[in-house]
Formats: sequence, C-alpha cells, structure tokens
Amino acid sequence: MSYLASKTRYQNMQYRRCGNSGIKLSAISLGLWHNFGHVDTLENSRAILKLAFDSGITHFDLANNYGPPPGSAEENFGKILREDFAAYRDELIISSKAGYTMWDGPYGDWGSKKYLVASLDQSLKRMGLEYVDIFYHHRPDPDTPLEETMAALDLIVRQGKALYVGISNYPAVEAAKAIDLLKKMGTPCLIHQPKYSMFVRWVEEALLDTLEQEGVGCIPFSPLAQGLLTNKYLHGIPADSRAAKPHGFLKEEDVSETRINQIRQLNDIAQQRNQSLAQMALAWLLKDNRITSVLIGASKPEQLADSLHCLENINFSEAELNSIEQILK
Ligand SMILES: NC(=O)c1ccc[n+]([C@@H]2O[C@H](COP(=O)([O-])OP(=O)(O)OC[C@H]3O[C@@H](n4cnc5c(N)ncnc54)[C@H](OP(=O)(O)O)[C@@H]3O)[C@@H](O)[C@H]2O)c1
Repeated sequence: MSYLASKTRYQNMQYRRCGNSGIKLSAISLGLWHNFGHVDTLENSRAILKLAFDSGITHFDLANNYGPPPGSAEENFGKILREDFAAYRDELIISSKAGYTMWDGPYGDWGSKKYLVASLDQSLKRMGLEYVDIFYHHRPDPDTPLEETMAALDLIVRQGKALYVGISNYPAVEAAKAIDLLKKMGTPCLIHQPKYSMFVRWVEEALLDTLEQEGVGCIPFSPLAQGLLTNKYLHGIPADSRAAKPHGFLKEEDVSETRINQIRQLNDIAQQRNQSLAQMALAWLLKDNRITSVLIGASKPEQLADSLHCLENINFSEAELNSIEQILK
C-alpha cells in the first residue's frame, strides 16, 4: 500500500516567513546528515521521514556528502521520495549543499564554480529531482573569490536547478559580503545555516543582527548539540548513541564531566517547565523571531515525536532565562 500523508498534517506546525522572501518554512526542519546513509536502516529512515511530513515538517535538509558513504543520504532520500512522496513534491522544500570534500582532485571541494555546478548535477541525479528548492554553499572558501562562488549560485538558479540559494557557516562579515553580491546579481540570499544551540552561541555576536537587517532567514543546525542537549547522556553513553558510533561526528570526549553537569541542571529547569530537555533546547532557540526554523536530527521516530512537542511552549520567564544563563556561563 502506498503512503498516504496524514490529512491533519498542517494543523499543529508553525510556519515562519524566511527573511523577506515569499517562502515560509516549518518551525522545525529535518536534517539527513546522520541516520540516512547506507550504514543505516532504510526502513527506519523512511519511518522518520513519514512521521516528519505527517507532523507538518515541510523542509528536508541534505548535502552532497551526507551518509556515510558520502552521497548515500541523497540516494536513500531519492528512493523514499520516489516510493512514497512522489505525489507530495510540491509540498516539500528540499535543500542540498556543496562545500566540503566530495571527490578526488582539485574540483571536488570548496567553492569554485566548477565544483558547485558539477556537485549539484550529481545531487539531482542521486535524488532523482529536476531541481532543489534551496542550494547552499556549505562553508566559506578562503581561496576562491567570493564573487565566483556567488556567481555560481546565481547561475544555478538561472539554470533552473535551484529555486533559492543560501550560505552556511559564513561568519558575519563574509555573510554580509555574500548577501550583498547576491543581491546585486538579482538572486537574493534566502537563508543562512549556522551552528547554534545553548552550547554554541557565536551567532549572537553579530550574525543574527546582520541577517535581520538584510532580510535573510536563519536556520540553526545541531540545535540539540548533536544530542548533548537531551536526556540521553545523563547516565553515561548509550551504545546506540551518536557518541558511541564509529562514524558519528560527536566524540566520546565531547561528553565531558563539565557538560554532563550543565545538562543535569538544564534538565531540572526543563522538568519544571514540563518539557523534555530536547524540547526546552529547541524552544529556547525558537523564542527569538529571527530564527526561521530549527534544523534537527533524529535517529528514531520517537525522538522526533518528542522534539516536535517543543512548539507547545516557546515562552520563557526572565527568571528561567537568567537561570539558564547562569548554567551556561
Ligand atoms: N551546514 C552544516 O555545516 C551542517 C553541519 C551539521 C549539521 N547540519 C544539518 O543539521 C541537521 C541536524 O544536525 P544534528 O543531527 O547534529 O542535530 P541535533 O538535533 O543537534 O542532533 C540530533 C541527534 O540528537 C539526538 N536526539 C534528537 N532528538 C532527540 C530527543 N528528542 N531525545 C533524545 N535524543 C535526541 C539523536 O542522537 P542519537 O543519534 O545519539 O540518537 C539525533 O541524531 C543535519 O542533519 C544537517 O541537515 C548542517
């Protein structure tokens, strides 16, 4: 039996306008960095995607190198799209990126026009798509002129291979330059994707203000600090966790005593708010209306179900915010 999406899928999600654009994104977006590669179980990936869409998530975030092996998350996503979501393409915002090492030689990495155009062609083939909704430059390239990288994004939109473009991991000054170049070319920057969570706060210095002034959306990645900002590491490192997996980007040493102490105290505040720690960590980002959407990961449908409930309370009292700051100091 083919998949029929829930009829009530748009009832409990919030949608936020992405900067000054015409596009609204679900306040929660799902990323396929981990848990969707050939090393993972396809049926579990499929169940997570169905739950996401049934819950009103419209935005799915990929990149050329997601797996492992690199490319396999796009392949699996393409397979599930064909088998289950073909009827829903126009209800989906699908993004991909290029910027990290993808293939051997001088044209498979960083930010040249050669790399970006070829990489997106490969991504489209892997996913079986005619276009992506958003194409990002994944990280700044210190050697390629920014003009060339932004001209590549503009070209890709003019070729019809992406509808919108974004940048990721760009510090505030480089982001402002990229946004300005794109504006002059007539292909406005839709969105910036930085790492941002209670544990990683560099964006608060200048980037968030820059994006607001320029009318560019902001979608924080790893808002749960790869799982640290949940209750999963309270009593050690579970065998099925990202920190325990050989291919995970969270290392055992990241689960330090200092972190665990902070996590315990944050968990106490979350409990007082009748939230799980994951829900509170996401709500804490979404309280700021400069945040378009939080880009979460999940290794099981149950985790996604838990995280989705964050939307039930995204307000914080001054006392709660102060207590959180004390813990994070
Ligand atoms: N632009 C970039 O450079 C960049 C870099 C990194 C990520 N991203 C994007 O951001 C997305 C999200 O990154 P992320 O996966 O690091 O996000 P995250 O939401 O911070 O971490 C997700 C992990 O946290 C755990 N988790 C999630 N919900 C939970 C819950 N309710 N209770 C307990 N544990 C829970 C799971 O870990 P376990 O696996 O241990 O169960 C899950 O795999 C990626 O998929 C990708 O699309 C972009």
